[in-house]
Amino acid sequence: MNHGSDPMPTLETSTSADPSLDPKGPIEGVTLPDFSAESYKDAYSRINAIVIEGEQEAHDNYMALATLLPDQAEELGRLARMELKHMKGFTACGNNLGVTADMPFAHEFFSPLRNNFQVALKEGKVVTCLLIQALLIEAFAISAYHIYIPVADPFARKITEGVVKDEYTHLNYGQEWLKSHFEESRAELEQANRENLPHVRRMLDRVAADASVLHMEKEDLIEDFLIAYQDALTDIGFNPREIARMAAAALLG
Ligand SMILES: [Fe+2]
Ligand SMILES: [Fe+2]
Repeated sequence: MNHGSDPMPTLETSTSADPSLDPKGPIEGVTLPDFSAESYKDAYSRINAIVIEGEQEAHDNYMALATLLPDQAEELGRLARMELKHMKGFTACGNNLGVTADMPFAHEFFSPLRNNFQVALKEGKVVTCLLIQALLIEAFAISAYHIYIPVADPFARKITEGVVKDEYTHLNYGQEWLKSHFEESRAELEQANRENLPHVRRMLDRVAADASVLHMEKEDLIEDFLIAYQDALTDIGFNPREIARMAAAALLG
């Protein structure tokens, strides 16, 4: 938890005020899964791997973005270090349950977004890189962690609560940069959205069955993702009609 001299990222909600964050017991109205069941561990081996791989790639992506935005290198390096800390935390979650993460599955799972990020990076397209990592991947992570927290084992719940606060600061980073470069970024953002949002939909489809074993429902994941993503697009400067058109790209790709 030590960020050195870095300020701790905070959300308006305090951990002690939210009953869903009480590590002592289950949350009212929530049925916890059997964390020791073989079916749980099997699904967890893929979900945990996705999370570990996602955090590793987030680290790599922020370091890569620093090469495109040298004046932002210090801040991007700080975000990248947070992602490595998250990766270690989620690795510990798998170990705690005696689960071996299926890393080859996760590596393949992220390949469409990773490939698109790498192409954009080579072309020096900062806007596309930020849309993929700081908006889409961060919003995907935020939704997954939100929906996971109430049904997580106590060890993983505590770790995930810490992580999700950080992910908001990362989403916010991308949002602020794109907001201050909105007019010149608009067309590239729309294009990058068209090319990458369908991949997020397919990722949600692919993860749905395993997520359900963990008591995380696809509808909740989609809803939470769209809230985070659309809030970001609104803040950046898009109007409701433009956002509806961008969201509709998920259905077309
Ligand atoms: Fe992270
Ligand atoms: Fe992040």
